[in-house]
Amino acid sequence: MKYKLILLSTLICFYSQAQKFDGIALTPPMGWNSWNTFKCDGINETVIREMADTMVSKGLKAVGYEYIVIDDCWQVGRDENGYIIVDKEKFPSGMKALADYIHSKGLKFGIYSDAGTHTCGGRPGSKGFEFKDAEKYAEWEVDYLKYDWCNTEGQDAIASYTLMRDALFENKRPMLFSICEWGINKPWEWAKEVGHIWRTTYDISFDGRFDGDSWGNQIGWSNILDMQVGLEKYAGPGHWNDPDMLTVGIEMPVNESRAHFTMWCMLAAPLMTGNDLRNMTIETQEILTNKNVIAIDQDKLGKQGFKIHDDGHFEIWQKPLENGGIAICLFNRDTNAKEYTLNWKKLKIREFKGDYTVSNVWENKTIGTTEDIINLQVPKRDVVLFKLIPNQ
Ligand code: GLA
Repeated sequence: MKYKLILLSTLICFYSQAQKFDGIALTPPMGWNSWNTFKCDGINETVIREMADTMVSKGLKAVGYEYIVIDDCWQVGRDENGYIIVDKEKFPSGMKALADYIHSKGLKFGIYSDAGTHTCGGRPGSKGFEFKDAEKYAEWEVDYLKYDWCNTEGQDAIASYTLMRDALFENKRPMLFSICEWGINKPWEWAKEVGHIWRTTYDISFDGRFDGDSWGNQIGWSNILDMQVGLEKYAGPGHWNDPDMLTVGIEMPVNESRAHFTMWCMLAAPLMTGNDLRNMTIETQEILTNKNVIAIDQDKLGKQGFKIHDDGHFEIWQKPLENGGIAICLFNRDTNAKEYTLNWKKLKIREFKGDYTVSNVWENKTIGTTEDIINLQVPKRDVVLFKLIPNQ
């Protein structure tokens, strides 16, 4: 009995000290992840290094992108001591050398594992090896862990994610903890104490699909947007809803890429791009690096946007910004252009306080004030994004 009590109090003491790392992701994280383009077979250390190089040379680092994350399929087995074995053919220099390279560019390094026995790609998962894996990640100087939910039959999500959170914390290397259980256990209700971002849905479709299921669990990005309605109250600095990675520039027309990127910024979503940065078009680069649009995502107030108007194909979203500013986004889901008369006073903008100066964010110009009534056209499957700054 006495020993049981000692054991229990030791455990309580240990767990009451464990927590997620504070001070990380105070604005939504920005970076690049290998999955949407390279999947399992395409990754290797050359690709990852080149992506880090390009993140710097094409100006993504300068506008805030910082994480380079290797998704699934870098791992091949476990050694006799239970430590994870890196695929030596694809990563001959090892993870520490790759981390050093990424850090030498002023960027941060992310990696992937899974709470179950195996990852979604069938590689070894962390179940039963959480502390050994966390020890390795700390040794390699990893800055970000995406933790998936395949092959977790019979496991409790809160317990499994909390266990990995505690394993990371024990190793004292601050890491962003990205929870990827696809929203099935309502992570928005519990994950704030456990991780920094949590996926809210199954995977975004990377075949450029606008809406509908494509195959398996993949969902068009506009349907993912619909699934974020009502989740806004759960997001804030250090804890964000994650509607999945960007597919900007991956088999999508420019207007849809712009709309997808803008709506993710309205959602204060993590901006993890997944395209091949080395050969992206100028249009894709301009979308991904638009400072004024990114500033709406990264706004320090940390409020997720919400829908204030919906007539089926045409929606208006609002995102409160710091210092009383407001972002308003008109989103036309239709395949025809939408003519619209914008009367600011008649829109149901929450906490609308009279007079504001209005700018068109993508056009980067001031267009007037909220006293004006504007006739405008929103092109098909595109957005018009405004920023309102209070006049006082
Ligand atoms: C799951 C995740 C994806 C990706 C793959 C890798 O489907 O949701 O984001 O990490 O696994 O296998």
